[in-house]
Amino acid sequence: ADQINHEGHLLIGGVDTTSLAKQYGTPLIAYDTNNIRQQIRNFKKIFDEEQVDYQISYASKAFATIAMYQLINQENIHCDVVSGGEIYTAAQAGFPMGKVSFHGNNKSYEELELALDQNIGCIILDNFHEIELLSQLTDKRGQDIDVMFRVTPGISAHTHEYVMTGQEDSKFGFDINSGQADDAIQQVLATRHLNPIGIHCHIGSQIFATDGFIMAAQKMMALLHHWQVKFDFLAPVVNLGGGFGIQYTDDEKPLQPESFIKAILHEMKRIAAETQMKLPEIWIEPGRSIVGNAGVSLYTVGSRKVIPGVRTYVAVDGGMGDNIRPALYQAKYETVVANKLTHPVTETVSIAGKYCESGDMLAWDQKLPKTEAGDLLAILDTGAYGYSMASNYNRNPRPAVVFCENGTSKLIVKRESLQDLIRQDLPLE
Ligand code: LLP
Repeated sequence: ADQINHEGHLLIGGVDTTSLAKQYGTPLIAYDTNNIRQQIRNFKKIFDEEQVDYQISYASKAFATIAMYQLINQENIHCDVVSGGEIYTAAQAGFPMGKVSFHGNNKSYEELELALDQNIGCIILDNFHEIELLSQLTDKRGQDIDVMFRVTPGISAHTHEYVMTGQEDSKFGFDINSGQADDAIQQVLATRHLNPIGIHCHIGSQIFATDGFIMAAQKMMALLHHWQVKFDFLAPVVNLGGGFGIQYTDDEKPLQPESFIKAILHEMKRIAAETQMKLPEIWIEPGRSIVGNAGVSLYTVGSRKVIPGVRTYVAVDGGMGDNIRPALYQAKYETVVANKLTHPVTETVSIAGKYCESGDMLAWDQKLPKTEAGDLLAILDTGAYGYSMASNYNRNPRPAVVFCENGTSKLIVKRESLQDLIRQDLPLE
């Protein structure tokens, strides 16, 4: 998706990254918004071709700002949120709140109230405490709300253990095997205002194979059937979460969304036919696969440390504060020198951040042209869980974010200032 211009500079959304760096400064996160739109349209196309009822719900934790919610709304899909902060941002963006579903394993009373105030589309129930809170709240307000049940299907998708979520030993959701899910639907059916519309599972993130999704589809269809027989209740929606893997490095070969979706749909259709059940409406919640490949992080190269015979460190003006994924998950990225794309590769260097920790590395063993201070280093495919997990560690301001489309750029998040850093601080006296 990334392109090069006649000066040998990296383009994003048709905009020269070196001019972005000049205009907005670095570190900078730049998105190709056409790329985001294409990912969404591609998901839709696959479902449309399969002629099933579906809903695509963008997992906004991957990257959410006012402009992003507006972009998602332009593409006319749903989104899911996981905090009062995401609810608030979506509402401020003018996102139609009826298209929002609310996740979380410990939603607070205040967050549930906010969700109800905003007439949120649906709340994805995670545990018994939440059923109790929400039934109290809705009784008090006399307000109905659609709910889904998050269940743990007992599937381990092969991915980093911190992003595994479908296995039995998980903090999320109602366990199926021990009967928690059955208790949950019974409790909800006994409430006055909770209207169950579906079941949900999410088996993990950055998944490369279809088998986990196929197993999840089987478990979910079995649960639907079981609830129909046992409680005479047929949930109209099955939400299979997100987790579709994307390519970060040359040696990774994730499946395309099409392969995932087709595998899931074929299995669901097969089971529906076999059990003579109506095919439920199928929801997915992709996050990474919508924004991951659309973003690049731009940094200015600064110092260099050469340890003869061991390694060369090239340091940039950002790091774990704007992208914690390498430090937290050993995530791998490809990098390029954005102002020297046509220069010959001459060395292998590792890209260090500027934070005061040895673990603050952004990429290891990158084959790059010779860099010097002032060059523009681009880390590719940082669109998901980069800015959204950013922090002010070491009191570094968080970077700016720009959207680029058809050769023009638009600032969508201002760079934090030094004053922003102390905005909430209070003096001793
Ligand atoms: N639905 C639910 C309920 C989720 O928990 C998640 C991600 C998604 C959807 C979206 O998954 P995706 O399509 O983006 O894989 N910070 C980690 C990823 C954490 C994912 C958490 N849940 C990372 O940077 O790799």
